[in-house]
Amino acid sequence: MTIDCEGRYAILSLLEACGNLWAPNHEVKQMAGEGCKAMDSSTEYKEIVRISYDTQASLYAKTLSMQSGNMMRLLGYLLTSGISQSRGNYLDVGCGMGNLAQEIQQRFGGVSIAYCGIDLSQELIKLGKIQNPSLHNMLVGDIEHLPFRDESFDTVISNSVLHWLNVPEVGQSPRRALAEIWRVLRVDRSLAVSVAGIGTGRMFQESYKRVMAQCRFDPGFKAALYREDPVGTMRLDQLINMLLDIGFNIKLALLEYEPVIYSHAAKYLNAVKAYGYGMFLAPVPPLNKEMVWQMIENDFVEHIGDREYHHDQYMIYVIALKPKNNSGRYQP
Ligand SMILES: C[S@@+](CC[C@H](N)C(=O)[O-])C[C@H]1O[C@@H](n2cnc3c(N)ncnc32)[C@H](O)[C@@H]1O
Repeated sequence: MTIDCEGRYAILSLLEACGNLWAPNHEVKQMAGEGCKAMDSSTEYKEIVRISYDTQASLYAKTLSMQSGNMMRLLGYLLTSGISQSRGNYLDVGCGMGNLAQEIQQRFGGVSIAYCGIDLSQELIKLGKIQNPSLHNMLVGDIEHLPFRDESFDTVISNSVLHWLNVPEVGQSPRRALAEIWRVLRVDRSLAVSVAGIGTGRMFQESYKRVMAQCRFDPGFKAALYREDPVGTMRLDQLINMLLDIGFNIKLALLEYEPVIYSHAAKYLNAVKAYGYGMFLAPVPPLNKEMVWQMIENDFVEHIGDREYHHDQYMIYVIALKPKNNSGRYQP
Protein backbone atom coordinates (compact mmCIF):
# COMPACT_ATOMS: atom_id res chain seq x y z
CA MET A 1 0.00 0.00 0.00
CA THR A 2 1.39 3.42 -0.92
CA ILE A 3 0.21 6.67 0.54
CA ASP A 4 1.25 9.82 -1.18
CA CYS A 5 1.25 12.94 0.96
CA GLU A 6 1.46 15.24 -2.04
CA GLY A 7 -2.27 14.77 -2.50
CA ARG A 8 -1.58 12.51 -5.48
CA TYR A 9 -2.74 8.98 -5.62
CA ALA A 10 -2.13 5.58 -4.15
CA ILE A 11 -3.60 2.17 -4.70
CA LEU A 12 -4.95 0.86 -1.43
CA SER A 13 -6.01 -2.60 -2.31
CA LEU A 14 -5.39 -4.79 -5.35
CA LEU A 15 -8.09 -6.43 -7.33
CA GLU A 16 -6.25 -9.45 -8.68
CA ALA A 17 -9.05 -11.06 -10.58
CA CYS A 18 -9.82 -7.85 -12.44
CA GLY A 19 -6.29 -7.28 -13.66
CA ASN A 20 -7.30 -6.47 -17.21
CA LEU A 21 -9.78 -3.83 -16.03
CA TRP A 22 -7.21 -1.58 -14.37
CA ALA A 23 -6.65 1.69 -16.10
CA PRO A 24 -3.00 1.98 -17.12
CA ASN A 25 -1.12 4.10 -14.56
CA HIS A 26 -4.39 4.80 -12.86
CA GLU A 27 -4.08 6.15 -9.39
CA VAL A 28 -6.70 5.97 -6.65
CA LYS A 29 -7.15 9.27 -4.90
CA GLN A 30 -5.88 9.17 -1.34
CA MET A 31 -7.04 11.50 1.38
CA ALA A 32 -4.34 13.60 2.94
CA GLY A 33 -3.29 12.10 6.27
CA GLU A 34 -1.43 13.47 9.25
CA GLY A 35 1.50 15.59 8.19
CA CYS A 36 0.08 16.18 4.75
CA LYS A 37 -0.90 19.52 3.34
CA ALA A 38 -4.34 20.91 4.19
CA MET A 39 -7.34 19.22 2.60
CA ASP A 40 -9.93 21.17 0.64
CA SER A 41 -13.41 21.16 2.18
CA SER A 42 -14.79 18.60 -0.22
CA THR A 43 -11.95 16.16 0.56
CA GLU A 44 -12.36 16.90 4.26
CA TYR A 45 -16.04 15.98 4.04
CA LYS A 46 -15.26 12.75 2.18
CA GLU A 47 -12.76 11.90 4.90
CA ILE A 48 -15.52 12.40 7.48
CA VAL A 49 -17.66 9.86 5.59
CA ARG A 50 -14.79 7.37 5.42
CA ILE A 51 -13.94 7.65 9.12
CA SER A 52 -17.60 7.39 10.09
CA TYR A 53 -18.10 4.11 8.23
CA ASP A 54 -14.73 2.78 9.42
CA THR A 55 -15.42 3.48 13.10
CA GLN A 56 -19.04 2.30 13.00
CA ALA A 57 -18.32 -0.78 10.83
CA SER A 58 -19.19 -3.46 13.42
CA LEU A 59 -22.40 -1.68 14.40
CA TYR A 60 -23.21 -1.22 10.71
CA ALA A 61 -22.81 -4.96 10.11
CA LYS A 62 -25.50 -5.62 12.76
CA THR A 63 -27.99 -2.97 11.59
CA LEU A 64 -28.25 -3.40 7.86
CA SER A 65 -32.04 -3.25 7.76
CA MET A 66 -32.02 0.40 6.68
CA GLN A 67 -30.58 -0.35 3.26
CA SER A 68 -31.12 -4.07 2.66
CA GLY A 69 -34.75 -3.50 1.56
CA ASN A 70 -33.88 -0.79 -0.92
CA MET A 71 -30.96 -2.81 -2.29
CA MET A 72 -33.36 -5.62 -3.18
CA ARG A 73 -35.83 -3.19 -4.71
CA LEU A 74 -33.13 -1.54 -6.80
CA LEU A 75 -31.94 -4.90 -8.09
CA GLY A 76 -35.53 -5.89 -8.83
CA TYR A 77 -36.07 -2.72 -10.90
CA LEU A 78 -32.84 -3.31 -12.77
CA LEU A 79 -33.69 -6.89 -13.64
CA THR A 80 -37.21 -6.09 -14.79
CA SER A 81 -36.25 -2.97 -16.76
CA GLY A 82 -35.47 -5.08 -19.81
CA ILE A 83 -32.03 -3.55 -20.29
CA SER A 84 -29.99 -5.83 -18.10
CA GLN A 85 -29.10 -9.48 -18.36
CA SER A 86 -27.38 -12.02 -16.20
CA ARG A 87 -24.23 -12.18 -18.33
CA GLY A 88 -21.45 -9.67 -18.00
CA ASN A 89 -19.76 -8.08 -15.04
CA TYR A 90 -21.16 -5.91 -12.28
CA LEU A 91 -19.53 -2.99 -10.50
CA ASP A 92 -21.03 -2.04 -7.14
CA VAL A 93 -19.90 1.49 -6.23
CA GLY A 94 -20.09 2.28 -2.50
CA CYS A 95 -20.50 -1.48 -1.97
CA GLY A 96 -20.19 -1.44 1.84
CA MET A 97 -19.81 -5.10 2.85
CA GLY A 98 -20.67 -6.33 -0.64
CA ASN A 99 -24.06 -7.77 0.29
CA LEU A 100 -25.29 -7.07 -3.20
CA ALA A 101 -23.01 -9.82 -4.54
CA GLN A 102 -24.96 -12.55 -2.73
CA GLU A 103 -28.25 -11.00 -3.76
CA ILE A 104 -27.24 -10.99 -7.45
CA GLN A 105 -26.00 -14.56 -7.17
CA GLN A 106 -29.32 -15.68 -5.72
CA ARG A 107 -31.38 -13.84 -8.34
CA PHE A 108 -29.47 -15.65 -11.06
CA GLY A 109 -29.93 -19.02 -9.39
CA GLY A 110 -26.29 -19.90 -8.86
CA VAL A 111 -25.02 -18.73 -12.27
CA SER A 112 -21.56 -17.38 -11.63
CA ILE A 113 -21.54 -13.59 -11.80
CA ALA A 114 -18.46 -11.40 -12.13
CA TYR A 115 -18.85 -8.96 -9.24
CA CYS A 116 -16.55 -6.15 -8.26
CA GLY A 117 -17.15 -3.77 -5.35
CA ILE A 118 -15.45 -0.54 -4.36
CA ASP A 119 -15.91 1.44 -1.15
CA LEU A 120 -14.21 4.20 0.84
CA SER A 121 -14.32 2.18 4.05
CA GLN A 122 -11.49 -0.27 4.55
CA GLU A 123 -13.25 -1.71 7.61
CA LEU A 124 -16.49 -2.49 5.77
CA ILE A 125 -14.54 -4.16 2.97
CA LYS A 126 -12.65 -6.21 5.58
CA LEU A 127 -15.89 -7.31 7.29
CA GLY A 128 -17.45 -8.11 3.92
CA LYS A 129 -14.54 -10.39 3.04
CA ILE A 130 -14.76 -12.15 6.43
CA GLN A 131 -18.51 -12.65 5.97
CA ASN A 132 -18.08 -13.95 2.43
CA PRO A 133 -14.51 -15.16 1.75
CA SER A 134 -15.33 -15.81 -1.90
CA LEU A 135 -15.61 -12.05 -2.48
CA HIS A 136 -12.10 -11.40 -3.79
CA ASN A 137 -13.02 -8.47 -5.97
CA MET A 138 -13.64 -5.84 -3.35
CA LEU A 139 -11.32 -2.90 -3.02
CA VAL A 140 -10.95 0.29 -1.09
CA GLY A 141 -11.33 3.37 -3.24
CA ASP A 142 -13.29 6.43 -4.19
CA ILE A 143 -16.22 6.51 -6.62
CA GLU A 144 -14.95 9.80 -7.97
CA HIS A 145 -11.68 8.19 -9.07
CA LEU A 146 -12.44 4.67 -10.25
CA PRO A 147 -9.27 2.72 -11.00
CA PHE A 148 -10.69 1.02 -14.11
CA ARG A 149 -10.30 1.38 -17.83
CA ASP A 150 -13.02 3.11 -19.86
CA GLU A 151 -15.98 0.87 -20.72
CA SER A 152 -15.02 -2.04 -18.44
CA PHE A 153 -18.39 -2.97 -16.93
CA ASP A 154 -21.75 -4.21 -18.18
CA THR A 155 -23.72 -2.96 -15.19
CA VAL A 156 -22.95 -0.43 -12.48
CA ILE A 157 -25.03 -0.39 -9.30
CA SER A 158 -24.97 2.16 -6.50
CA ASN A 159 -27.33 1.63 -3.60
CA SER A 160 -27.85 4.38 -1.05
CA VAL A 161 -24.49 6.08 -1.57
CA LEU A 162 -24.57 9.17 -3.75
CA HIS A 163 -26.43 11.43 -1.30
CA TRP A 164 -23.20 11.37 0.75
CA LEU A 165 -21.61 13.21 -2.16
CA ASN A 166 -24.41 15.78 -2.27
CA VAL A 167 -22.71 18.46 -0.18
CA PRO A 168 -23.29 21.80 -1.95
CA GLU A 169 -21.94 23.63 1.13
CA VAL A 170 -18.44 22.39 0.24
CA GLY A 171 -18.90 22.46 -3.54
CA GLN A 172 -19.46 18.70 -3.73
CA SER A 173 -22.09 17.04 -5.91
CA PRO A 174 -22.74 13.47 -7.12
CA ARG A 175 -22.07 14.68 -10.68
CA ARG A 176 -18.36 13.74 -10.66
CA ALA A 177 -19.15 10.23 -9.44
CA LEU A 178 -21.85 9.82 -12.10
CA ALA A 179 -19.40 10.95 -14.79
CA GLU A 180 -16.89 8.33 -13.56
CA ILE A 181 -19.61 5.69 -13.71
CA TRP A 182 -20.39 6.80 -17.29
CA ARG A 183 -16.71 6.40 -18.18
CA VAL A 184 -16.36 2.81 -16.91
CA LEU A 185 -19.75 1.62 -18.20
CA ARG A 186 -19.97 -0.05 -21.62
CA VAL A 187 -22.17 1.47 -24.29
CA ASP A 188 -25.75 0.18 -24.37
CA ARG A 189 -25.41 -0.94 -20.74
CA SER A 190 -27.09 0.25 -17.61
CA LEU A 191 -26.64 2.00 -14.30
CA ALA A 192 -28.97 1.29 -11.38
CA VAL A 193 -28.83 3.93 -8.70
CA SER A 194 -30.75 4.64 -5.50
CA VAL A 195 -30.37 7.63 -3.19
CA ALA A 196 -32.21 8.88 -0.11
CA GLY A 197 -34.91 11.38 -1.03
CA ILE A 198 -35.90 14.52 0.86
CA GLY A 199 -37.89 13.74 4.01
CA THR A 200 -35.86 10.63 4.90
CA GLY A 201 -35.23 10.46 8.65
CA ARG A 202 -37.40 13.54 9.19
CA MET A 203 -38.03 13.09 12.92
CA PHE A 204 -34.41 12.29 13.69
CA GLN A 205 -33.28 15.35 11.76
CA GLU A 206 -35.66 17.48 13.86
CA SER A 207 -33.97 16.23 17.05
CA TYR A 208 -30.60 16.84 15.45
CA LYS A 209 -31.44 20.45 14.60
CA ARG A 210 -32.78 21.19 18.10
CA VAL A 211 -29.60 19.88 19.73
CA MET A 212 -27.30 21.64 17.25
CA ALA A 213 -29.07 24.91 18.00
CA GLN A 214 -27.92 24.46 21.60
CA CYS A 215 -24.34 23.49 20.67
CA ARG A 216 -23.50 25.91 17.91
CA PHE A 217 -21.94 28.52 20.20
CA ASP A 218 -19.78 25.99 22.08
CA PRO A 219 -16.02 26.54 21.77
CA GLY A 220 -14.60 24.44 18.94
CA PHE A 221 -17.93 24.08 17.07
CA LYS A 222 -17.07 24.04 13.32
CA ALA A 223 -19.90 26.09 11.84
CA ALA A 224 -18.57 25.52 8.30
CA LEU A 225 -19.34 21.80 8.68
CA TYR A 226 -22.88 22.31 10.00
CA ARG A 227 -25.61 21.23 7.58
CA GLU A 228 -29.32 21.22 8.30
CA ASP A 229 -29.50 17.97 6.33
CA PRO A 230 -26.20 16.13 6.84
CA VAL A 231 -27.50 13.13 4.86
CA GLY A 232 -27.67 15.20 1.66
CA THR A 233 -31.10 13.85 0.68
CA MET A 234 -31.97 14.61 -2.94
CA ARG A 235 -34.91 15.45 -5.20
CA LEU A 236 -35.81 13.07 -8.00
CA ASP A 237 -35.50 15.77 -10.69
CA GLN A 238 -32.06 16.76 -9.35
CA LEU A 239 -30.70 13.25 -9.94
CA ILE A 240 -32.47 12.86 -13.30
CA ASN A 241 -31.07 16.17 -14.57
CA MET A 242 -27.53 15.22 -13.58
CA LEU A 243 -27.84 11.90 -15.43
CA LEU A 244 -29.32 13.58 -18.53
CA ASP A 245 -26.57 16.20 -18.54
CA ILE A 246 -23.93 13.48 -18.58
CA GLY A 247 -25.65 11.75 -21.51
CA PHE A 248 -27.63 8.89 -19.95
CA ASN A 249 -31.10 7.91 -21.13
CA ILE A 250 -33.55 7.46 -18.27
CA LYS A 251 -35.40 4.14 -18.45
CA LEU A 252 -37.11 4.26 -15.08
CA ALA A 253 -37.29 6.85 -12.31
CA LEU A 254 -39.26 6.45 -9.10
CA LEU A 255 -39.71 8.14 -5.77
CA GLU A 256 -41.09 5.70 -3.21
CA TYR A 257 -42.18 6.04 0.37
CA GLU A 258 -40.82 3.00 2.20
CA PRO A 259 -41.02 3.28 5.96
CA VAL A 260 -38.71 0.92 7.85
CA ILE A 261 -40.21 -0.35 11.09
CA TYR A 262 -38.10 -0.67 14.25
CA SER A 263 -39.45 -2.42 17.35
CA HIS A 264 -37.97 0.32 19.59
CA ALA A 265 -36.62 3.82 19.08
CA ALA A 266 -33.36 2.55 20.62
CA LYS A 267 -32.90 0.07 17.77
CA TYR A 268 -33.56 2.79 15.25
CA LEU A 269 -31.04 5.09 16.90
CA ASN A 270 -28.38 2.36 16.63
CA ALA A 271 -29.07 2.07 12.92
CA VAL A 272 -28.80 5.86 12.45
CA LYS A 273 -25.54 5.85 14.39
CA ALA A 274 -24.09 3.16 12.12
CA TYR A 275 -25.36 5.00 9.07
CA GLY A 276 -24.21 8.54 9.71
CA TYR A 277 -22.65 9.22 13.13
CA GLY A 278 -19.62 11.05 11.72
CA MET A 279 -21.61 13.12 9.25
CA PHE A 280 -24.16 14.26 11.85
CA LEU A 281 -21.44 15.17 14.31
CA ALA A 282 -19.00 16.72 11.83
CA PRO A 283 -19.18 20.21 13.41
CA VAL A 284 -18.78 18.96 17.00
CA PRO A 285 -15.30 18.90 18.64
CA PRO A 286 -14.03 15.30 19.13
CA LEU A 287 -14.27 15.28 22.92
CA ASN A 288 -17.93 16.34 22.84
CA LYS A 289 -19.15 13.95 20.15
CA GLU A 290 -20.43 11.12 22.38
CA MET A 291 -22.13 13.59 24.73
CA VAL A 292 -23.84 15.41 21.86
CA TRP A 293 -24.95 12.13 20.30
CA GLN A 294 -26.47 11.20 23.65
CA MET A 295 -28.30 14.54 23.71
CA ILE A 296 -29.75 13.87 20.24
CA GLU A 297 -30.86 10.38 21.28
CA ASN A 298 -32.47 11.75 24.46
CA ASP A 299 -34.30 14.46 22.53
CA PHE A 300 -35.55 11.90 20.02
CA VAL A 301 -36.84 9.51 22.70
CA GLU A 302 -38.44 12.43 24.55
CA HIS A 303 -40.43 13.32 21.45
CA ILE A 304 -41.14 9.83 20.13
CA GLY A 305 -41.04 7.57 23.19
CA ASP A 306 -39.12 4.28 23.19
CA ARG A 307 -41.79 2.42 21.25
CA GLU A 308 -42.16 0.91 17.80
CA TYR A 309 -40.91 3.48 15.36
CA HIS A 310 -41.55 3.93 11.64
CA HIS A 311 -38.50 5.49 10.03
CA ASP A 312 -39.60 7.72 7.13
CA GLN A 313 -37.69 6.61 4.11
CA TYR A 314 -38.22 8.23 0.73
CA MET A 315 -36.11 6.38 -1.79
CA ILE A 316 -35.24 7.49 -5.29
CA TYR A 317 -34.56 4.74 -7.84
CA VAL A 318 -33.26 5.37 -11.34
CA ILE A 319 -32.33 2.92 -14.08
CA ALA A 320 -30.32 4.72 -16.76
CA LEU A 321 -28.81 3.56 -20.03
CA LYS A 322 -25.56 4.70 -21.64
CA PRO A 323 -26.87 4.92 -25.19
CA LYS A 324 -25.17 3.95 -28.45
CA ASN A 325 -24.07 6.77 -30.72
CA ASN A 326 -23.90 9.32 -27.97
CA SER A 327 -20.62 10.83 -26.96
CA GLY A 328 -22.19 12.28 -23.81
CA ARG A 329 -22.26 15.96 -23.07
CA TYR A 330 -19.93 15.58 -20.12
CA GLN A 331 -16.28 16.12 -20.88
CA PRO A 332 -14.03 14.96 -18.03
C1 LIG B 1 -25.44 3.39 3.30
S1 LIG B 1 -23.97 2.61 2.86
C2 LIG B 1 -24.56 1.55 1.54
C3 LIG B 1 -23.64 0.36 1.32
C4 LIG B 1 -24.10 -0.62 0.24
N1 LIG B 1 -24.29 0.03 -1.04
C5 LIG B 1 -25.35 -1.35 0.67
O1 LIG B 1 -26.40 -1.15 0.04
O2 LIG B 1 -25.28 -2.14 1.63
C6 LIG B 1 -23.09 3.89 2.00
C7 LIG B 1 -21.70 3.44 1.56
O3 LIG B 1 -21.17 4.41 0.65
C8 LIG B 1 -19.76 4.45 0.84
N2 LIG B 1 -19.25 5.69 0.25
C9 LIG B 1 -19.61 6.97 0.53
N3 LIG B 1 -18.91 7.84 -0.23
C10 LIG B 1 -18.09 7.08 -1.03
C11 LIG B 1 -17.11 7.40 -2.03
N4 LIG B 1 -16.82 8.67 -2.36
N5 LIG B 1 -16.46 6.37 -2.64
C12 LIG B 1 -16.73 5.09 -2.29
N6 LIG B 1 -17.64 4.74 -1.36
C13 LIG B 1 -18.31 5.71 -0.73
C14 LIG B 1 -19.64 4.38 2.36
O4 LIG B 1 -18.35 4.05 2.77
C15 LIG B 1 -20.70 3.32 2.69
O5 LIG B 1 -20.16 2.03 2.68
